[in-house]
Amino acid sequence: MSSIEIKALTRDAATLPVLVDMLIETVAAGGSVSFMHPLSRPAAETFWANALMAAERGERVVLGAWDGDTLVGTVTLLLDFPVNQPHRAEIAKLMTRLAYRGKGIARRLMRAAEALAVEKGRTLLVLDTATEEGASGLYEKLGFTLTGEIPDFALKPHGGLTGTLIYWKRVGQPA
Ligand SMILES: CC(C)(COP(=O)(O)OP(=O)(O)OC[C@H]1O[C@@H](n2cnc3c(N)ncnc32)[C@H](O)[C@@H]1OP(=O)(O)O)[C@@H](O)C(=O)NCCC(=O)NCCS
Repeated sequence: MSSIEIKALTRDAATLPVLVDMLIETVAAGGSVSFMHPLSRPAAETFWANALMAAERGERVVLGAWDGDTLVGTVTLLLDFPVNQPHRAEIAKLMTRLAYRGKGIARRLMRAAEALAVEKGRTLLVLDTATEEGASGLYEKLGFTLTGEIPDFALKPHGGLTGTLIYWKRVGQPA
């Protein structure tokens, strides 16, 4: 999909409801993004409003993938870390609308998040993903290294425990 544009999202009236729809849809489809199904609209709204306020404070960047006027995916780059970790950033809340999956949207979002991290002087990216129904294959294709698994880390959206896989990648440095 060549017309996809990746942009930082802001807390505006048009964006918030679409992010809310995306989060509810993702959780209902079994995506492990820290919520349980069914996710209520107010809970999803609170999450995204807080996330976008944190973005306004510079603590994170919420990137969106746009197909024209349609928001089809998102990823968050977390930047707010203790003073002894100024070189680190974390990838979170990567999701693609169900109808747009398998078209390279997440790959583009991840590439954009990585480029942004480098632009902000970050040299180490970390992330975690559920062992069951997570996106480990995607992260490995993008060059992330698996550190290991913590078993029984979290509940899946429809119940039952799953482990989590911890990944890292050095960025913005000569090989
Ligand atoms: C994971 C998710 C973001 C992938 O989005 P997507 O836009 O369909 O992914 P892409 O089309 O960009 O995939 C890029 C590559 O990664 C692979 N991939 C994508 N999702 C994968 C998964 N869950 N497991 C393994 N490989 C995956 C694709 O096969 C593709 O490989 P290719 O380029 O060799 O063909 C999407 O399935 C989703 O929203 N899942 C629910 C939320 C979630 O689990 N997010 C991750 C939380 S850590």
